[in-house]
Amino acid sequence: MNISRDEILAYIDTPLLRLISRTADEMQLECYLIGGFVRDFFLCRPSKDIDVVAIGKGIDLAAAVARKLGKKAHLTVFKNFGTAQIKHGDIEIEFVGARKESYRSDSRKPIVEDGTLEDDQRRRDFTINAMAFCLNGDRFGELLDPFNGLQDLEELIIRTPLEPDITFSDDPLRMMRAVRFATQLGFDIYPDTFDAIARNRERIAIVSMERVTDELNKIILSPKPSIGFILLEKTGLLEIFFPELTALKGAETKEGVGHKDNFYHTLSVLDNIARETDDLWLRWAALLHDIAKPVTKRWDPKLGWTFHNHNFIGEKMIPPIFRRMKLPQNEKMKYVQKLVSLHMRPMQLVEDEVTDSALRRLLFDAGDDIDDLMTLCEADITSKNPVKVNHFINNFKIVRLKLREIEEKDRVRNFQPPIDGNEIMEVFGLPQCREIGILKTAIKEAILDGVIPNEHDAAYAFMLEKAREMNLNPVAER
Ligand code: CTP
Repeated sequence: MNISRDEILAYIDTPLLRLISRTADEMQLECYLIGGFVRDFFLCRPSKDIDVVAIGKGIDLAAAVARKLGKKAHLTVFKNFGTAQIKHGDIEIEFVGARKESYRSDSRKPIVEDGTLEDDQRRRDFTINAMAFCLNGDRFGELLDPFNGLQDLEELIIRTPLEPDITFSDDPLRMMRAVRFATQLGFDIYPDTFDAIARNRERIAIVSMERVTDELNKIILSPKPSIGFILLEKTGLLEIFFPELTALKGAETKEGVGHKDNFYHTLSVLDNIARETDDLWLRWAALLHDIAKPVTKRWDPKLGWTFHNHNFIGEKMIPPIFRRMKLPQNEKMKYVQKLVSLHMRPMQLVEDEVTDSALRRLLFDAGDDIDDLMTLCEADITSKNPVKVNHFINNFKIVRLKLREIEEKDRVRNFQPPIDGNEIMEVFGLPQCREIGILKTAIKEAILDGVIPNEHDAAYAFMLEKAREMNLNPVAER
């Protein structure tokens, strides 16, 4: 990469960085921009978080900078970690003193020994994250790259600056970070580094689940998440923290009948949906849509391989997975469960006849998530047979169209019964009892089946008729 000093200057010649530079010069402190901010310059990616490393007291430099920025800046000091942070508008600047020990943002170990810039760079995770720009005086904008990060960036390689076993034992989360950067950037993990991940994989267990999940979510949110999942599987990391996913692997054949490898199918679905949406939870639904296939798999001499009810069992498997992975136990999880449980319905609709009543029921069950469900079902088409693919895509187009028509006509998407329990109790002079429930359900079913329109008067007449069959008389007629 032929980058001139002028180009670097154009990137870093901002009032804020000049202020840090002046302050460091006054304090006679060597200081550098380092890490993601430098990497992202070469990748032409915007970067809001700035890491500054000082040779000496990073905290003192941060305090002096914060004083100069005045009220516009907010300084937080983490004395135990030897770091400080300044928030300035939507920019966050982390200050740290160069260390001989590994840099870890959440390390609980106190910092023992100060080091040189190169000591600090050596203990960072990857060569592409270990490049620095000097901020001092005449050297403002000088690149310091002792581990050839720029070359690795050009060759699209993730590699540790040190012997990888040391880098990963400093912080095993870096194994996840290697996979995450490879996925986000479309880079390869250097063979030595890859082998060390496979060798050290068990040590991921000592990292908090929150940090692992954070990286996993970044992989899921990448343009082509399958890259990350294949790397996680090949290094053996996935098996440790997500065994339900690796259980999807493999394609068995019996009496000449095979089934698809559900691991790679799931990854295709995830890649497909990643082209359509950036919604993390819709992507999670794609990842988990077939999660119960291994536990529901049966061989039926007549039907071949079956996975009966894998959608409903999958829905039930989600809460324990979310709990273990420290994912939210709230409406996000319920949304993923709902999509997993409903993911077969549009396909069944297409295979049978597309009746209005089946569409109405689907609309009723999916509610506002109907479009996301259709997106998931379209992503679920991974057949290699173009005739089949076209057939399904066209049928789903018809389903989407018909769903729109039905919704306009019947408004069952967020169904509110036109007659509620209170009205029924009043009409028949009844307290809360079984009969009320029966009448309510009968009205709902009649609307969903298209027997009556979704309107009060029609529902009222239907209710009277149904009540007569049950020997119930309205108060007004007594
Ligand atoms: N770092 C490290 N080991 C870690 C975490 C971070 O060596 N486990 C170093 C790297 O030099 C990294 C820098 O700290 O570039 C900043 O870390 P962080 O903000 O977590 O990541 P970025 O590289 O900035 O990338 P992103 O913002 O995409 O997470």
